[in-house]
Amino acid sequence: MKNIVCLISGRGSNLEAMLQVARAEAWHQAPGAQVAAVISNRPDAPGLQVARRFDVPATAVVDHKAFATREAFENALAREIDAHAPVLVVLAGFMRVLTPGFVTRYEGRLLNIHPSLLPSFPGLHTHRRALAAGVRAHGATVHFVSAEVDAGAIVAQAVVPVLPGDDETRLAARVLEREHRMLPRCVRWYLEGRVALRDGGVALRDVEPGELLFQ
Ligand code: GRF
Repeated sequence: MKNIVCLISGRGSNLEAMLQVARAEAWHQAPGAQVAAVISNRPDAPGLQVARRFDVPATAVVDHKAFATREAFENALAREIDAHAPVLVVLAGFMRVLTPGFVTRYEGRLLNIHPSLLPSFPGLHTHRRALAAGVRAHGATVHFVSAEVDAGAIVAQAVVPVLPGDDETRLAARVLEREHRMLPRCVRWYLEGRVALRDGGVALRDVEPGELLFQ
């Protein structure tokens, strides 16, 4: 069985979307994978309940506040992750910046979902910033994680229009609906070996480029 470890910090709606698809498509049969563990850096993250509701075999909390340094936190996090020998680690709303050392350790098997059309709006408050910038299109990106924050090789993007009268909440909801469709697909492609990180770029096999744009 190929193990996936998900890292979360909050609500866990992307995690839930993935668990739903994994169940509906019987990923445990093909491609022979399971979300083996969900790890949160926040003890009160609602996503931990999502994991339990879907019978994820392990949940854990590695509270960043309990560590004096980022490195100490990441060492504890890595120990927890490595206990499950994952083929893939998914940052599904994980709100801590990771050091280059950590990223290197999981290079090529670390995916993140970010709520903007990267390279536009890396960092926080992406929906607010998109509205302030007056862009017509906004969205989300699934990418391999690299040492530079929100700058790794792009796997897929989801595009939504910015509509008259949008506020942060409405725009965020429109983007999130696409995130929930995009992330499970990307994870499955990765598990099937159809999407991989090669020489700093994304290598595709049996995926049409058009499939990597979610509208
Ligand atoms: C999502 O918008 C994701 O793109 C970003 O954090 C948010 C997490 O939401 N990285 P949820 O916890 O999956 O509901």
